[in-house]
Amino acid sequence: MTTVTPLKGSVGTAHTRVEGRDKVTGAARYAAEIPFAELAHGWLVLSTIARGRVRAMDTDAVLAMPGVLTVLHHGNALHVDTDYAGFLGMPPDPSVALFQHDRVPYAGWPVALVVARTSEQAREAAEALVVHYDQEPHDIAFKDGRPDAYLAADTPVGPGSTAKGDLDAELARSAVVVDAEYTTPEEHHNPMEPHAATALWDGGRLEVVDSNQGALWVQGELANLFSLDPASVRVRSEHVGGGFGSKGVRAHQVAAVMAATVLQRPVRVVLTRRQMFSLVGYRSPTAQRVRLGADPDGRLRALAHEALNQSSRVHEFMEPSATPGRVLYDAPAHHTAHRIVRLDVPTPTFMRAPGEAPGSFALESALDELAEKCGVDPIDLRLRNEPEAGPVSGLPFAGRGLIACFRAGARRFGWAERDPRPGVRRDGRWLLGTGTAACTFHAGAVPSTAALTAEADGRFTVRISAADIGTGARTALTLIAADALEVTPERVDVLIGNSDFGPAMIAGGSMGTSSWGWAITAAAEDLRERLALSADIPPEGITVRSNTMEAIAALPPKERHSYGAHFAEAAVDITTGEVRVRRMLGIFAAGRIINPLTARNQFVGGMTWGISMALHEEAVRDPASGAHVGADLAGYHFAANADVPHIEADWLPEDPDDDDPVRIKGIGEIGIVGAAAAVANAVWHATGVRHRNLPIRPDRILMAGRDA
Ligand code: MOS
Repeated sequence: MTTVTPLKGSVGTAHTRVEGRDKVTGAARYAAEIPFAELAHGWLVLSTIARGRVRAMDTDAVLAMPGVLTVLHHGNALHVDTDYAGFLGMPPDPSVALFQHDRVPYAGWPVALVVARTSEQAREAAEALVVHYDQEPHDIAFKDGRPDAYLAADTPVGPGSTAKGDLDAELARSAVVVDAEYTTPEEHHNPMEPHAATALWDGGRLEVVDSNQGALWVQGELANLFSLDPASVRVRSEHVGGGFGSKGVRAHQVAAVMAATVLQRPVRVVLTRRQMFSLVGYRSPTAQRVRLGADPDGRLRALAHEALNQSSRVHEFMEPSATPGRVLYDAPAHHTAHRIVRLDVPTPTFMRAPGEAPGSFALESALDELAEKCGVDPIDLRLRNEPEAGPVSGLPFAGRGLIACFRAGARRFGWAERDPRPGVRRDGRWLLGTGTAACTFHAGAVPSTAALTAEADGRFTVRISAADIGTGARTALTLIAADALEVTPERVDVLIGNSDFGPAMIAGGSMGTSSWGWAITAAAEDLRERLALSADIPPEGITVRSNTMEAIAALPPKERHSYGAHFAEAAVDITTGEVRVRRMLGIFAAGRIINPLTARNQFVGGMTWGISMALHEEAVRDPASGAHVGADLAGYHFAANADVPHIEADWLPEDPDDDDPVRIKGIGEIGIVGAAAAVANAVWHATGVRHRNLPIRPDRILMAGRDA
């Protein structure tokens, strides 16, 4: 059967996950579940001090324990090369260069790997390994005003600083000024599936079965780290139980490869929940100062957003918190800047909406404070400050649905009936309030390749080095391929998570689906032309390959972003300090929505993170040890079912004015942006007290009257 039946309409229609049945029946295997013959198990040993040196390690006793095969450490490890440009052209975090020296730069730094026949034996031996340290005083005090904080240089994710106009002059000219400091704590992405990798050498080829956000990314970094020909390394990552930015190249893959190379047998390394707290990155705490100057009607004259984040001693990471204002609001004086302080802590990393999540809390809280001071409705304030073009770039917007989202959301939430006065609504012991906040996240596509095969049996196979980290990407790509081929989705098989499929974007930056979808669409166009020329399909099928490099490079520069408006209703018991979010609504404009079913999951998931960020999440470090207190999902408090109220997420139809064929803006991250600010603004409206430090814990509610 070779006829291609014209058909469109899969995109935009709800479709359950194509691998959903496999997942719920357990047939889908995750990285740590795939069996291998002769498999050995590695267990990482992490430092218990936050700064110093490893003086000695009592390995003899551990090597004599049952099942133990080897102990790898700085005295016997393979050389690992970190002198290369990795992800986004940045050098790799030396935290993945395992056991290359005796220095300990933070608590939870990997100092050894114990490999044994069983996982239990490896764990037993790892816990028995005595490590002697020369301890040095550590410094983990993240706070604003540290003299050793420095201005961030430009990074691949954006400039360190931007400045236009005379800030002091415009602030002096402003009738109304907000000058406030906001803080957000250290937060952790802790996907349900812990990081896990198995490595083995097979006929001169390194095979790695892993759980990651980009098989090709991990393959490239492992090839660099171990000085291997990339073609001799294959990484597979078929099912991934969450990533959120944490699943790149981490200690477990490097440990597994090193041990598999030394032992010449398959070695699996799985991280524990506790180990994830120091080994897979996290969101830096932030201290942010926002200054807004406005005319009496709320029109901005000045906007300054300065953000501080921490990084480790071994690697620099900038949390780009000052970026939302570069897109959302313009002002004659417009300044944004990032500063970094280096401490004896693990290196932070990209965590869902890096920068935008903490930055939007500060900026959107400040906007709410400005609305209050001007006596202007918060939505009217945004209307009055809607820019014509990119505030920093001056470039045109490729679709900007911000105001449309506010209008639609206001109608649905019942904003018009809102009494702006704070602290005047009561429901029994609860004070009630509502709040709103804007959100934005960058959109775009990254050059990718795809292979598309018309099979002799009438089916179609897509091969692309994409990753489905739980988002439903595999299903979205199936729908995109089906429409591009004009067939039903049931005739399309999408194979992903394999570095052999060639270069492609990672599942990150909310740009996976747009990047992969473009490559698949391009391949489908070619394939349909080929099939139009000849309908005869040989037994091996007809395969075409696409590469979107040139098409993406040819796109004219524009401001490409998604937008949205959050609305939240909070109830606050000022006698117990309890805050409950009663309902939440998010309206988004994010280009074409491929699968409404999984899209809603992404938005609601992001919003749930926002509630969690507003009220619960906070990783606490013990100043004495430099390590976390409660590094587990019992000690790290996050929003669970009972904390999550009635949440509605919806979107406006948007077909952005742009030249790319897919017009997908991406939805993985925008749901969390601004969500915490909407909750905090609702808490202000309920109580009349402004909370500028997250999370808004019961003790902060109770103490608010006193330290205000
Ligand atoms: Mo995301 S923080 O781009 O995985």
